[in-house]
Amino acid sequence: MDKLVIQGPNKIQGNLTASGSKNAALPILFATILSDEKHLVKNVPCLHDMESTLKMLLHFGAHVNQHFEATWGSRWTIDTSRVTHGNAPYDLIRKMRASFFSLGPILGRLGKGRVSLPGGCAIGARPVDLHLMAFEKLGATIEQSGGDVDIKAPGGRLIGNKVRFPKISVGATENLIMAAVTAKGETLIENAAAEPEVRYLSEALMSMGAKIEGHGTHTIHIQGVDKLGALNYSIPSDRIEVGTYLIATQLLGGDVTIADAPVEDLEILILKLRESGATVDVVGKSVRLIASEKIKPVSLVTEAFPGFATDLQAQWVALMTHAEGESLIEETIFENRFMHVPELIRMGGKYSVEGSKIKIFGKPGVLRGAPVMATDLRASASLVLAGLAAQGESSIRRIYHLDRGYESMELKLRSLGARIERRQDD
Ligand code: UD1
Repeated sequence: MDKLVIQGPNKIQGNLTASGSKNAALPILFATILSDEKHLVKNVPCLHDMESTLKMLLHFGAHVNQHFEATWGSRWTIDTSRVTHGNAPYDLIRKMRASFFSLGPILGRLGKGRVSLPGGCAIGARPVDLHLMAFEKLGATIEQSGGDVDIKAPGGRLIGNKVRFPKISVGATENLIMAAVTAKGETLIENAAAEPEVRYLSEALMSMGAKIEGHGTHTIHIQGVDKLGALNYSIPSDRIEVGTYLIATQLLGGDVTIADAPVEDLEILILKLRESGATVDVVGKSVRLIASEKIKPVSLVTEAFPGFATDLQAQWVALMTHAEGESLIEETIFENRFMHVPELIRMGGKYSVEGSKIKIFGKPGVLRGAPVMATDLRASASLVLAGLAAQGESSIRRIYHLDRGYESMELKLRSLGARIERRQDD
């Protein structure tokens, strides 16, 4: 197992290119199952979650070739003509929750599938009841046994219907869209997730011949089609990765420009960074952040898009730890997403957590290097940022969480002047 060893603090400076979005790539790669064609997906980030996705696709019978680019990312050609079954065992699902997102395309293509139920995870219970409710609304029958769900579309094809989600779920919206594009008739989704990744998935499906309207809003119309064609799509940049490096720059001080940034998906973050004192300039698809001398405290609430992303909350906590005064953050998406806080306390941060709210008693330069442990993907990113800002040496263990979602994070940070290296953890 690897760990990251960081010497802090120092300013960062220079240029970065964003990697492809993990959360966009996951459903889009699974969406290729929907037709029996040869597909090309470009700008797929090199991440552990993509390796899990590859294993799932191969397990279903797809043939996949990966061509790695010289810098970041890879191109995948995926031949789904020999996908003959949709049975995903627990061993594949438990490594990556999002494997459950394969169920929609499996149902859309084959009319039946058997998938293990994902368990809870570090940040909350994360049930899949909304996914299952949506499939049932489209006529699927569901049986549960031995930790698996067996799902069948009577007659082999789902039937379009109206589905109103009682709460916004990105994954359930994506799974339903993928199931509905080849269902018979029309599907209306109300209270759908409007996250950019839902929009990207819809655009990818539309390029295969799907008929979708309203994606990117909370009401989506889908007219089912009999057959879809091949996909040729380039995964857009990762808004969470870009957001993490922007927050890092404001925390550490310095001047960083990120090319290929999905700036239109980052509006609220840019607003909050400016409130904290940073100068943020957007020119075309590139975003430049010049850090302020002092960090002003900025409170916020995590919300569904276009609100502040829960996936950037942990990194914001790290930033506010060095602000000049108190800030309050409320987490409204996941019930247990402050796992980074006990580790940040070990580094000298001062907080009080009450339920879904955290008060941060910010103080410039308060963080001190320490050995800490990553608990989930975004908590890991928060600890890396804190380690870079802290006085002295930090080591971050269990970085396999980080490798799930950040492409070559230590290389990208080192190219900006950070002192961070990967070592084997003894
Ligand atoms: C996706 C993202 C994740 C992000 C999250 C919220 C991917 C691969 N992951 O996760 O990075 O943090 O959106 O923006 O895209 N819920 C239910 N029942 C369900 C489904 C969800 O109660 O059937 C609850 C969840 O427990 C959570 C909330 O709904 O409290 C939102 O979760 P959801 O939007 O579904 O998150 P994911 O799609 O899993």
